[in-house]
Amino acid sequence: MQPDPPSAIGNAASFTPAADDVFGRIANRYDVLCDVFSFGIHRLWKRRVAKVLADEHWSTLLDGATGTGDIILRVLAHDSVQGRSIIASDISPQMLAMAERRLAGHAEQVSIQQLDVEAMPEVPSDSLDAYSISLCLKICDRQLALREALRVLKPGGRIIILEASNIPWKSLQSAYLIYMSVCMPVLGWLATGGDASAYRYLLQGIEQFPSAEALADEMAVAGFADVRFERLSLGIVAIHVARKPFSVDEA
Ligand SMILES: C[S@@+](CC[C@H](N)C(=O)[O-])C[C@H]1O[C@@H](n2cnc3c(N)ncnc32)[C@H](O)[C@@H]1O
Repeated sequence: MQPDPPSAIGNAASFTPAADDVFGRIANRYDVLCDVFSFGIHRLWKRRVAKVLADEHWSTLLDGATGTGDIILRVLAHDSVQGRSIIASDISPQMLAMAERRLAGHAEQVSIQQLDVEAMPEVPSDSLDAYSISLCLKICDRQLALREALRVLKPGGRIIILEASNIPWKSLQSAYLIYMSVCMPVLGWLATGGDASAYRYLLQGIEQFPSAEALADEMAVAGFADVRFERLSLGIVAIHVARKPFSVDEA
């Protein structure tokens, strides 16, 4: 039986892990592909989001869709996070196996858990101080993911999102999208040895994902308070930070 198609509104890339296990297939090449697709710039984005994460006050952080643990490794480089607990989670066992290997030196601080960001019944409500998700909101149902993040956070807990965004200058954004649609298939085809899925999802997700302002509005509608964002690399990606309100009246 075919899995249900993802909601067109909530899942910008129309990606369904059960239908196309693209991350399982590319897990051992994922970090190299990030370098190829972004010309290495993803390292700056990840360094920045790791700094934002390290500067927040939390005892327990859950990183949803952690992939190979690339961002958590950068978070752990900050002295301020020593002794704090991190759950690195992903839906893909292959990606988690990579994360487990890369984070093995921090086993006392980091636990690895297979979780679906859209539904995490394994995680109790109001149990986390911070929740992060990077480069996944465009490939999952973001309304479900935001709702679940809100549920698992303690009142006052922080959500930190790194995601593809929009360049606020329209002509530059159009040029960027044209460049992506011409270059990505060629680069992606070469880098993945002809595996079209990886760059198809990437492109569709970028084109269909809301602007930074619209995502901030969606977060507020989902129930988050004090939503703010910063653009990186002219707005190619943005980091959104918000908190779970202390009471329903505050939302
Ligand atoms: C583009 S990668 C980002 C990985 C990592 N956060 C980073 O920035 O390097 C997307 C990740 O999301 C995971 N993923 C996709 N759908 C998911 C879901 N519903 N729940 C949890 N993880 C998911 C994939 O397995 C993959 O590891």
